[in-house]
Amino acid sequence: MVERNIGIPREVFYHLRPIIETTRSEDYRSQDEWKFSQSTSDSYSESFGPLLEGIEGLERRRGSNLLKSLVERQREQKGELLVLDLMSYGAVHRDLKVRGLSVALTNKRSFLMWVNNGFIAGDIRNARTWRAIRQWLDSEKHTHDSARKFDLILARPFGGLTHVPKNEIFYHYIFTALYGLLTNEDGYLLTQFHPDMQRTVEQAVSQINTNAGVEARCDSNNGVFTLVKRSGAPEKISLVG
Ligand SMILES: C[S@@+](CC[C@H](N)C(=O)[O-])C[C@H]1O[C@@H](n2cnc3c(N)ncnc32)[C@H](O)[C@@H]1O
Repeated sequence: MVERNIGIPREVFYHLRPIIETTRSEDYRSQDEWKFSQSTSDSYSESFGPLLEGIEGLERRRGSNLLKSLVERQREQKGELLVLDLMSYGAVHRDLKVRGLSVALTNKRSFLMWVNNGFIAGDIRNARTWRAIRQWLDSEKHTHDSARKFDLILARPFGGLTHVPKNEIFYHYIFTALYGLLTNEDGYLLTQFHPDMQRTVEQAVSQINTNAGVEARCDSNNGVFTLVKRSGAPEKISLVG
């Protein structure tokens, strides 16, 4: 059951189900064609750069690839990094030299993108896809001693944003799921959001920032959101509409 897997309350799930089921009647797999879809970190950095400039230690690197700088800094502190690239084929993993998992509607990866990286063909409107992401993380336990979570989560779907419900409950559901997958040892979550969801995201940022150990920001002009999760951050954050 989805509520057990991602920790959303039963009554929220009750409201969410019809929303997901309505949009699910459309199968987007046949529409998995995009003008650009194999972006590297330069392009991601352009999207998230203005918010990354606010991160301590990165502010003086304005104009350079701030995502790469962030990843290099994380790598110096932790060694090998685990990175989730959601709604994407994961071309960015190779460029960032990280071990990664990507999730997209269909598998359009080139051979080089397979090396060292995982891939899930799935729709993020399906609970099954979130279970598969968790299982992938669990399987990482075999190569490391302790439970692993992602050090960095990227979600930059551009046109793909029209393939998910523009709905507050759905956005809260996705946030809860991604927050739970992120490490609290300086974990970063960088996502885009649809312009229609500006108010929802701005309200969420205010609520998130009432918690110790987490810091969220959004740039509504560019439709981007960032969050950093540090030790002492709550295990779950419940957002109310
Ligand atoms: C424009 S591409 C962007 C890819 C990449 N982030 C980049 O910047 O190059 C949109 C991506 O969103 C994925 N996508 C769209 N709707 C989705 C959904 N409902 N669930 C999972 N992935 C989805 C597509 O498969 C595609 O990989």
